[in-house]
Amino acid sequence: MNLQWYPGHMAKAKRMMQENIKLIDVVVELVDARIPLSSKNPDIDALAKNKSRIILLNKYDMADPKYNDLWKKHFEENGYYVALVNSKSGQGVKQVKDIIYKACEAKIERDRRRGIINRPVRAMVAGIPNVGKSTFINSFVGRASTKTGNKPGITKGKQWIRLSNKVELLDTPGILWPKFEDPRAGMSLALIGSINDNIIPMTELACELILFLNRHYPDAIKQRYDIEVPKIMNEIKDTISTLENIAIKRSSIMKGGEPDIDKAALILLDDFRSVRLGQITLEFPE
Ligand code: G4P
Repeated sequence: MNLQWYPGHMAKAKRMMQENIKLIDVVVELVDARIPLSSKNPDIDALAKNKSRIILLNKYDMADPKYNDLWKKHFEENGYYVALVNSKSGQGVKQVKDIIYKACEAKIERDRRRGIINRPVRAMVAGIPNVGKSTFINSFVGRASTKTGNKPGITKGKQWIRLSNKVELLDTPGILWPKFEDPRAGMSLALIGSINDNIIPMTELACELILFLNRHYPDAIKQRYDIEVPKIMNEIKDTISTLENIAIKRSSIMKGGEPDIDKAALILLDDFRSVRLGQITLEFPE
């Protein structure tokens, strides 16, 4: 799914979130473990004021294990309940029900004191497009659940999925918009493939990736393509020889005999997005 947001889309998404958030006790926000900052919605703090908050670092299988733990700690220190999740394989998904319940303990206690007992806590999944919301809900809900709420066609209402007698989940996830105004976030989102590739200069994006890898994962390219990579690169122009070497290794040569660097850029980005360069995290906690 590509990100093509217009003010109208954003206003609609915001309206939906505002409506749904009133009905729930806890927001389960999915972020991409490779770019936890850029995939986190900037306005959710205001929208979800006074709600319990859970962050799921989804796609943790694609990110660097060292930083997964640091990000988990970082968000925990900022008051969130956090879990590492691989929604595709189901790893880490089962614990989320308990975390939801735990995140709502204070509210359950308040209710109890007011005489409200056995009311299930209500949760909503939210996140930017492509972060894995549907995959997570499918894995989380599995088959052992029943839909509650109004029957479609009779009264238009929300559908709740009963996960246990203690927890219910809104069946449609909240769609959040990313941080487009920040160019760094734009680059991170483009690198993981969350922005329509047709509107992005892919060769430049690949050069940015080479610069980043050179700084933080210096062996990744060397090992994948068996080529020499300059030790220090400072500017985009320093990265072109690397693209040329990848093109030569992959026999991507243009008619005149020149290495096809545009093709090499696509190969590199595809390898990165498919985790063939290794588990790489693009953003680090302070
Ligand atoms: P969305 O509802 O938030 O828009 O996201 P969706 O669930 O459609 O997931 C987007 C893509 O991310 C899907 O890949 C999905 O399989 C993948 N995905 C979701 N969670 C994880 C995870 O934890 N780990 C990994 N490795 N991948 C995950 P796709 O290529 O669009 O589809 P498919 O070919 O995998 O079916």
